[in-house]
Amino acid sequence: MKLEFSYDFAKKFINDHELSEFLPQVETAVKYLEEKKGAGNDYLGWIDLPENYDKEEFARIKKSAEKIKSDSEVFVVIGIGGSYLGSKAAIEFLSHTFANKLSKEKRKSPEIYFAGTNISGVYLQHLIEVIGDRDFSINVISKSGTTTEPALAFRVFKNLLEKKYGKEGARERIYSTTDKARGALKKLSDEEKYETFVVPDDVGGRFTVLTAVGLLPIAAAGIDIDELMRGAADAMVDFRAPFENNICYQYAAIRNILHRKGKDIEILVNYEPRLHFVSEWWKQLFGESEGKDQKGIFPASVDFSTDLHSLGQYIQDGKRTMFETVISIEKPEVEFLIEEDKDNLDGLNFVAGKTMDYVNKKACDGTVLAHIDGGVPNLLLKLPEATPYHLGYMFYFFEKACGVSGYILGINPFNQPGVEDYKRNMFALLGKPGYEEEGKKLAERLKK
Ligand code: PA5
Repeated sequence: MKLEFSYDFAKKFINDHELSEFLPQVETAVKYLEEKKGAGNDYLGWIDLPENYDKEEFARIKKSAEKIKSDSEVFVVIGIGGSYLGSKAAIEFLSHTFANKLSKEKRKSPEIYFAGTNISGVYLQHLIEVIGDRDFSINVISKSGTTTEPALAFRVFKNLLEKKYGKEGARERIYSTTDKARGALKKLSDEEKYETFVVPDDVGGRFTVLTAVGLLPIAAAGIDIDELMRGAADAMVDFRAPFENNICYQYAAIRNILHRKGKDIEILVNYEPRLHFVSEWWKQLFGESEGKDQKGIFPASVDFSTDLHSLGQYIQDGKRTMFETVISIEKPEVEFLIEEDKDNLDGLNFVAGKTMDYVNKKACDGTVLAHIDGGVPNLLLKLPEATPYHLGYMFYFFEKACGVSGYILGINPFNQPGVEDYKRNMFALLGKPGYEEEGKKLAERLKK
């Protein structure tokens, strides 16, 4: 089993005939996607990426990762949105939970931190303090090469590197991932002769985890990127199957059926903290792809059992506008045994001899049943293990489901016009050349 999908716990909310009646819409969406006939069809490079990628660049990524591992105690990844969430998700999912706190010998890779994901001076200052006088390298990632958050962070770390190692030395420690021809970052990287990697033209930011955008940081974290690609390549083949054997299309269909019944929110649920950033990646993938033209399912996420003690109340008993998709990891990496206690003062001996994972899975089963009884359909995804292979497989599963689902919804899943609006206002308010008139109007509005 590579990934299992079940909607048994949503059947109470879906009549038997609905899925078969929905089939023509799925088939049309798949046709749009595979024949590249739908909106946004110039951004479909991710579909055959697990097979059709630049092998020379892939080898260079591995070589650079080895260099980073050998000459850096700290590696700072600078990027935002699609330019960081994929690698962050993979690194958090596949590394030791407290990797940055382990000794270098145990970790076998540098401490990894992300920057350019916000505009906080406090965050930057604290990160600089954490790096201290240790050796570090950076990877600046921006497809457009002009995004404010990473550009500001890059300016900071480039200057730090140049002060520490001189211009020549800094050049050896700056890795740049950007468009092959356009943008300020490309121009700067060419002039400074940085080791440069390419974000393919036909792959939008949130679909770039399997390009250099995701792969260099993931490889620098000591994760096997061959295995990641192998998982995605198997998914690519498996998810070309007809609907009845294709869990990717089934997931896309079921979420849309539920959406049309007023379930406007999908909550991705996990029971393992290591999945937290997979959920963040997933939220960007679906939110930025589907939230358009005043339509779309709102993607949310919770970490259980933590959030059962907060949002759990709303999910059980609040407005009935949501469904859940629960990811569970079948085989835990660690079998943590609960010991017998002779005094049993805490009254927990009824679980003595069981593992934490056993208890966790019972919490999951109990919650699924409670939530469906409370009117929340539950979809289940079972991932056999937390390995690069299975993560690659799941990444591709969600990417293709997102493309199909977006076309079912009747939007262009591959653009993000809404992301531009805040940027325009921010530039105008900051006085960026070319935005002067707009800046005055906005300043007036803020005075009122
Ligand atoms: O998915 C997207 O396109 C966005 O989230 C981008 O990844 C994000 O805005 C960062 O853009 P860029 O890589 O151009 O700096």
